[in-house]
Parts: sequence; C-alpha cells; structure tokens
Amino acid sequence: MSAIIEVQHVSFVYPDETNPDKKVLKDVSLSIEEGSFVAVLGHNGSGKSTLAKLLNAIHKPTSGTILVDGMDTSDPSKLLSIRSTVGMVFQNPDNQIVASVVEEDVAFAPENLGVPPAEIRTRVDEALTMVGMYEFREHAPHLLSGGQKQRVAIAGVIAMRPRCIVLDESTAMLDPIGRREILHTARHLNEAYGMTVVLITHHMEEAAQASRLIVMSEGEIIADGPPREVFSHVEQLRSFGLSSPETVQLLYELQHEGILVPLDAITDEECAQVLVQLLR
Ligand SMILES: Nc1ncnc2c1ncn2[C@@H]1O[C@H](COP(=O)(O)OP(=O)(O)OP(=O)(O)O)[C@@H](O)[C@H]1O
Ligand SMILES: [Mg+2]
Repeated sequence: MSAIIEVQHVSFVYPDETNPDKKVLKDVSLSIEEGSFVAVLGHNGSGKSTLAKLLNAIHKPTSGTILVDGMDTSDPSKLLSIRSTVGMVFQNPDNQIVASVVEEDVAFAPENLGVPPAEIRTRVDEALTMVGMYEFREHAPHLLSGGQKQRVAIAGVIAMRPRCIVLDESTAMLDPIGRREILHTARHLNEAYGMTVVLITHHMEEAAQASRLIVMSEGEIIADGPPREVFSHVEQLRSFGLSSPETVQLLYELQHEGILVPLDAITDEECAQVLVQLLR
C-alpha cells in the first residue's frame, strides 16, 4: 500500500495566537496508508481538529510539510485537488445541510465544482446508495433523524469522489443509534469501496473498530498502533489521563490480582470469552 497522506515534522501555531510558543501541534509526523481505517483519540484541545483541518488545507503548517497524494497542502494551486481528495465531515449535521431536499443537498458541492448534470445524477445516486440513504432522496433533510442527516452530509462529501474522508467527531451530537449508523457507514465505505477513513472520536468503542489508533496529547502523538495493542498499555494511557475500554480495564484489574489473562480482549464478546474460560 502507498501513503495517501504524509505529515512530515509538522508544527502549528494559530495565526491569531499572540504567544508564538503556543504550538498546537509539535513536530508531528505520520503517514496514512491508502485504504486504511484510522481512528484519532485524545483529550479536548489535544490538537485533533487542527490536524484534521491541516489534512485538507483549511490550515497550512507553520513548519513542516503535508503531502496529500503527493500534493503539498501549502501550494495554493493544489487547493481544489487536495479538497476533492480529502473530504471533511464535521460534528453538527444541521450546519452541513444546505438544501431542502436530500438529493439537492448531495448535489450541491459537485454543482459548485461545475460537474456536468448527467454526471451529477450518477454521483448523487451513487453517494446516497453508499451511505444507505437512496430511498430518502426526495425527503426533506430537516425531518430526518440525526444519524440520517449525518449520512446525508457524508453523501454530500462522497459526491466529490474523495479518496479519503475525515470524520471530525461526526457522531458527537448523535444518539447511540445515530452513532452506530455513522460507524457502520464509515466501515462500509472503507471495506466495500476502499475509501481511506480518518475517524476522530472521543468514544473508545468507536476507536476500537479502526485498524489503527493514533492517540494525541497536547499536540503530540503519544501512541500509534492497532487498537488492541494501544489499549493494552493501560498504565501509559492513564499517565496521560486517558483510559482503556472497560473490557481491557477489567482484565487489567484481574491481572493485578495475579490472574493470568490477556489484555487484548477488547470487544464485549472477546472479554466474555476470556472470563468464561477463567471460570471453567
Ligand atoms: N482558531 C483558533 N485560534 C487559536 N487557538 C485555537 C483555535 N482553534 C483551536 N485553538 C486551540 O488549539 C488547541 C487544539 O484545539 P483543537 O480544536 O485542535 O483540539 P481538539 O483535540 O480537536 O479538541 P476537542 O476534543 O475539544 O475537539 C486548543 O488549545 C485550542 O484552544
Ligand atoms: Mg476537535
């Protein structure tokens, strides 16, 4: 696999920041493989959204380089190509929906890009199908549930045919059903269409579903690996004020009591299996 995004020694200070030493990102380097599903976890203010906005050239690095499919995000002539390669979905679906009919909403961005009408039709139908909202194409977005609205917002981004989609806490305002819908959609886009997904979240159960988990703290990457591995470092996470899923914590407490259990049984089912084995 090749990298679709390369972040090379990136530091970032907000331009309106009066203290030039207040780096929101500190020498961050990372490479995201095309087709991967990466979760980013971290406390409030750790720099997750800033990083996301750097990936699609909303912000430019103060120092260092970001390459999106080889294009430097600091090169203004590449802006459109970068934005259509990396799509962003934000937290509040209501702020992202612009039209009064679902399919018109999804058509909005490609129309603005000057995509021919016949092609727009194809893209809208395709995008709505990909997020499982095709049957709602003639509905009014404001009557949909939060999860459905957010899926329409995702379809609007997909209609630009991005190769990578960044979801910045796109489940944060949703109920548990809506959250599950978005997670399912993200996994589907990744598994069925090979779309690269970067999922920024506060929810450990969501992060656990990614194939790679990046943990940020105060503008730095403090852990990076498969979720099972990252979450098994219970004490390291605690030292940064973060925790592991309850499953891993339970197993960790058992280990502390001298009981031999693995720490990488991360899902409820896996953890239950370990406990059943133990009781036998
Ligand atoms: N426009 C801005 N101008 C100045 N500082 C900012 C701006 N936006 C964010 N910051 C600061 O940058 C730091 C990182 O913020 P960022 O929004 O990237 O964090 P985050 O990890 O996304 O947090 P959250 O979990 O709350 O969304 C914080 O200290 C924040 O106060
Ligand atoms: Mg944020």
